[in-house]
Amino acid sequence: MPREPMIAPSLLSADFARLAEESRRVSDADWLHFDVMDAHFVPNLTFGLPVMAAVQAVSPVPLDCHLMIENPERWAPGYAEAGAGNVTIHAEAAADPRAVARDIRAAGALAGLALKPGTPLEGFLDVLRDFDTLLVMTVEPGFGGQEFIADVLPKVRRARELVDAGHLTLFVEVDGGINADTIEQAAAAGADVFVAGSAVYGADDPGKAIEALRAQAAGAMPA
Ligand code: DX5
Ligand code: ZN
Repeated sequence: MPREPMIAPSLLSADFARLAEESRRVSDADWLHFDVMDAHFVPNLTFGLPVMAAVQAVSPVPLDCHLMIENPERWAPGYAEAGAGNVTIHAEAAADPRAVARDIRAAGALAGLALKPGTPLEGFLDVLRDFDTLLVMTVEPGFGGQEFIADVLPKVRRARELVDAGHLTLFVEVDGGINADTIEQAAAAGADVFVAGSAVYGADDPGKAIEALRAQAAGAMPA
């Protein structure tokens, strides 16, 4: 079955005083990416579960929650219960990622596992059988607007090979520095979900930016 690229604008680059309107400005997106940071796992603090539940209640598209937090086992199921489409935890933060995946799925969301740029895929191949999404970070997590790290692309390629060979069944998502200059490389390497913060919310027309990114990704994806 041919894959369709999915675009997930990141609310991290939106106007925090207008989250409802900002979610409606990207109604053509596939997921709305919601970056939760706890000032411990990453050196930045954003928003948490009560804000996520409020945004999910008005968002035209499901939320894609990216939990850059310690103790994800404690918090992740709550995001699924609040109606998230996908809840991603960090491999580096979870003592037992499979148990968290089970709890997220039991609460009705897809379960994602995120890897920082320096975290190899190979240690998580077994664990990933229990996940629906692999989030390959293409910047160090913590801040929007950073430069894409192309050195991570071999990890995207390896993940795509494993999916195509039937060893894994999951979305391969990239996050960080995705824009008109970089999305084709990520798509050619095998990503099928593309997070874009500054490239969407920094554009005059976020809807047009989403369509342009989607067309670029579709053109660059391997057949
Ligand atoms: C970074 C976040 C990203 C961020 C991406 O830690 O996980 O989702 O919003 O922003 P851009 O697209 O501007 O790099
Ligand atoms: Zn993110």
